Amino acid sequence: MSNSMLSVRVRNKAYSPVFADKSKMIVMYGGAGSGKSYIAAQKILMRLVEQPGHSILVLRKHKEHLAISVFDQMWSVIVNEGYQDMFTKFNSGPRRIVYQAKGQPESRAVFLGLNDPEDLKSIARVTSIWVEEATQITEEDFNQVQLRMRGFTLDYFQTILTFNPGPTTHWIYKQWFSKAPEFEHVYAESRASTSIYKGTYVDNPFVGPDYTQTMENMRLSKPLMYAAYARGDWSEHNSLVFLPHARHDHQPTGGEVYYGLDFGINDPQALVEVRLVDGLYYVKLLIYEPGLINVTFTKKMLQLGVGKKDCIYADSSRKDLIIDLHRLGWNVHPAKKDRMAGIQTLLNFHERTSIHKDSVGLLSEMAQYGWKTDKNGTNMDDACDGNDHAIDALRYAFHTHNTKDKKRRIWLH
Ligand SMILES: Nc1ncnc2c1ncn2[C@@H]1O[C@H](COP(=O)(O)OP(=O)(O)O)[C@@H](O)[C@H]1O
Ligand SMILES: [Mg+2]
Repeated sequence: MSNSMLSVRVRNKAYSPVFADKSKMIVMYGGAGSGKSYIAAQKILMRLVEQPGHSILVLRKHKEHLAISVFDQMWSVIVNEGYQDMFTKFNSGPRRIVYQAKGQPESRAVFLGLNDPEDLKSIARVTSIWVEEATQITEEDFNQVQLRMRGFTLDYFQTILTFNPGPTTHWIYKQWFSKAPEFEHVYAESRASTSIYKGTYVDNPFVGPDYTQTMENMRLSKPLMYAAYARGDWSEHNSLVFLPHARHDHQPTGGEVYYGLDFGINDPQALVEVRLVDGLYYVKLLIYEPGLINVTFTKKMLQLGVGKKDCIYADSSRKDLIIDLHRLGWNVHPAKKDRMAGIQTLLNFHERTSIHKDSVGLLSEMAQYGWKTDKNGTNMDDACDGNDHAIDALRYAFHTHNTKDKKRRIWLH
């Protein structure tokens, strides 16, 4: 392809100065749907065209997340912008997207996971790095990544971080935000060699009215979630139990599957699917609905593809309902209910867990789920219960399935 320049159409005012920005660090954060990932992908593509012979690393914490997220996303930006003829994608080896102009060496974006240090070591001439969902990486990961950029370039070295902010206890907050909290409310402020850009869905002309409505509906009913996802603010609520999990768009098939079930009549009854594929746990909230009797509930399960033989861990305080499901032929087991132990198990698996983006009930519970605090604001070793039906279902599934228990549970027989 002889075209040596990429015509970038800039359509998002919050992040658009990113294209011309040559700072060593670009921190792009903000609300969900603000267009961060799209702009970061466009910038990377622009640099591939401008810098023959160079490698740009596109990183996530887990390499297993690449295929379902940033790699597909970058290719869809290419297609959407009509650049297909300029780039080639490789789905295996290390995944990569390659550009080569006539008579020039090829330049490539290489998609890697930080959990694969061997692959990382093998990539040379790195001039740029994009870390997607950067709140998932540790400070140590970040420092290691910086060491990958070396060599000589006539142009510039740059690291781009994109993420939705979390609690203010996060190392990213401490590093770039704690000294200048006013940045939170300023678009595109530049400081020393770091530029910080913030946007929200309001800045993205491509989000539709439905998305806007969903966001605005949270304003009063779910203020913490609204602050994080709609306004894209760092949270002072350090007492939240869960940092945001990774997200995925498509629930995989195959692998090992099991389910967690929390019964409810006035409260929603929650059924959560956990699917372990290649070392990652893909979670999806399948049912979240009050007033379901077992017969209706089992019909729904069948419609959703849950099999009678699939293992379901259910709230063990409702033996009657479990026995009833058993009679209907379902493979239901009483769950281990110790809340703190269960939360600890969930936290242990946090890094390897991804939540399907449509699991709204689960995500919204998690965005509000806080530790109990005493009157001085000190965390006590327990979580506030109440709005935690999907979380409980998830906890039953993970904790019961993944912790060994020699005792046989015999009371069903
Ligand atoms: N410049 C653009 N052109 C077309 N679609 C866009 C553009 N910017 C964002 N979008 C669309 O808006 C949605 C949200 O953008 P995304 O980059 O995923 O947001 P974020 O990463 O901030 O959550 C996506 O569906 C994306 O394709
Ligand atoms: Mg994104």
